[in-house]
Amino acid sequence: MTEGEDRTAGRQDPTWIAKDPLLGAVVVSAGQIAARVSELGEQITKDFWGRPPLLVGVLKGAFVFLADLARAIELPLEMDFMAVASYGTATKTSGVVRIVKDLDLDLTGRHVIVIEDIVDSGLTLSYLRKSLLARGPESLAICTLLQKTGQQRADFDVEYVGFEIAPDFVVGYGLDVAERYRNLPDLRVYLAGEPE
Ligand code: IMP
Ligand code: MG
Repeated sequence: MTEGEDRTAGRQDPTWIAKDPLLGAVVVSAGQIAARVSELGEQITKDFWGRPPLLVGVLKGAFVFLADLARAIELPLEMDFMAVASYGTATKTSGVVRIVKDLDLDLTGRHVIVIEDIVDSGLTLSYLRKSLLARGPESLAICTLLQKTGQQRADFDVEYVGFEIAPDFVVGYGLDVAERYRNLPDLRVYLAGEPE
């Protein structure tokens, strides 16, 4: 970029977040996220010392969290990604989940940590967990950035939880509504509520 040239001039409004009437209160700030991600990284580093983990990111929502968390884990590690689609509406999962993009790596004998953005009913993760366990990993743990309180209908343990939040619909830091808001640096309430 040459001096004096403004790449964003006329194309981008730096106050777009503040001006969006559908974005509500900050639920978790960027600073709180950074502090918690570093704690989780430290914990995982301790827990997986001597047995390097394979991080499995669930696309798309977990990509920002995984990018930060991976760099907070001081161990050699590998990562892979998968994408799932659930039958039902955009946010209310039926529990029947289809794998849209499968992993490239073999899980046999691996110490797998599934990285999720949010556990709401828990039905998506419940399905995913069973499907991954059937592939013979040495161990399987779950790490989610967010867990909504009182919403879980599936009975499995989530070993690592970033934040427990109220059951409002939230966006930002990877979480979207109709593919928007994934690039917000913090987590905010989406005021229009859950999209149908
Ligand atoms: P579950 O099967 O009900 O746990 O569904 C969890 C999935 O629903 C997440 O992986 C998200 O894709 C989506 N979801 C649930 N709550 C929210 C939210 O507040 N914001 C954005 N996506 C959400
Ligand atoms: Mg998700």
